[in-house]
Amino acid sequence: MTPRSFDVVILGAGAAGLFCAGEAGRRGRSVLVVDHARAPGEKIRISGGGRCNFTNIHASPKNFLSENPHFCISALKRFTAADFLSRVEARGIAWHEKTLGQLFCDGSATQIVMMLTDDLAAVGGVLELSTVAEEITRSDAGFFVRLSSGPVTCSSLVIATGGKSIPKIGASGFAYRIAEQFGLRVTETRPGLVPLTFEPHLLERIKPLTGVSTQARVSHGQTAFDEALLFTHRGLSGPAILQVSNFWREGDAIGIDLVPGADMFAELREARQSNGKQEAQTVIGRSMPKVLAQFVTANAGAAGPLAGQGDTGLQHLAAALHRWQVKPSGSEGYRTAEVTLGGIDTDGLDQKTMAAKSVPGLHFIGEALDVTGWLGGYNFQWAWSSGWAAGQAV
Ligand code: FDA
Repeated sequence: MTPRSFDVVILGAGAAGLFCAGEAGRRGRSVLVVDHARAPGEKIRISGGGRCNFTNIHASPKNFLSENPHFCISALKRFTAADFLSRVEARGIAWHEKTLGQLFCDGSATQIVMMLTDDLAAVGGVLELSTVAEEITRSDAGFFVRLSSGPVTCSSLVIATGGKSIPKIGASGFAYRIAEQFGLRVTETRPGLVPLTFEPHLLERIKPLTGVSTQARVSHGQTAFDEALLFTHRGLSGPAILQVSNFWREGDAIGIDLVPGADMFAELREARQSNGKQEAQTVIGRSMPKVLAQFVTANAGAAGPLAGQGDTGLQHLAAALHRWQVKPSGSEGYRTAEVTLGGIDTDGLDQKTMAAKSVPGLHFIGEALDVTGWLGGYNFQWAWSSGWAAGQAV
């Protein structure tokens, strides 16, 4: 079978691959995008609760984790959150800022998928779904790729197959295998932006709190996030926990302040003075769900009227509220993780073009790289910025 020939073949029709394809096509390159899934952009479709948190207006290199924190600077500067936003606006997609610079579609996340696939079609790009890359080798012209639909050749090959999170919707370790095939190093990978789990004994104790959500400051070392925290039947979740999970390692404790910004010792003392008949849980319940206030108070042995509590007891209760130290036993893993931490070592890649320094024409973009964003639209921004950078070079 005579191979079909393209300037650019992109493996992975996710956020990075589709965006890169549109950019390359706009420059007049012939493009083929291949995905083993039945539909393109599945993670975009399910992201942000179906509304896609497509970028963060405050995105900057400090919101990303990588062994080389400087690598992402160039791409993020050359294609910014404002640049992506202007594409969204040009397309007529209505959006809003939810909180902390996080931009969401007013309507459905599929609007973003359609914008990307329409852009690809407009530049004559070909999208081939339910197709597997069985073999990749170098050829005189660039690369030879044996696809399940037949052989293709290309001068530039872009690997945009993402990380390992949510295998149920098509995630695979494919990018890492290809990187290793071509002699590139892959750093240790682990689930990121993931709920944390507790051992059975602790789970049993916090069972009455399942489903309770509260505003909290969750910290790991010097890193802290002020966002919502959710008690689950496995442990803890919610944005504050997902954020800190990127920094947490097995065996580490995390710190939880259930009343950030307040001084509960002072508030409880004042409440005791003004009305000693009221209970501590009533005072605390003004800052958090009542069931949680009751739980913490009972656990700290501070139930009953405030008049009966000494300063030491109130200090103990305030410490339980402000400085809860807990050691998660693990995480929910790739099954629910939003991203993969670690990935293809950026030292082997050119930061301007995302090309492998040792293999001309071979590019890696998106989540497959050792560049991981915080929760809040940063990971899609990395997909757009790295996809754009490669799109200018292929
Ligand atoms: P992505 O995973 O999007 O695409 C990879 C593509 O490659 C997929 O289409 C896959 O099928 C395909 N593929 C894999 N292996 C293959 C193989 N062997 N052959 C062919 N194709 C293959 N981020 C954010 O900024 N805002 C948000 O709101 C959210 N929300 C969110 C919710 C949930 C539930 C998840 C799981 C993740 C998020 N994220 C997010 C993270 C975001 O989805 C993620 O960082 C980007 O989709 C990464 O884009 P990529 O294109 O690199 O990979």
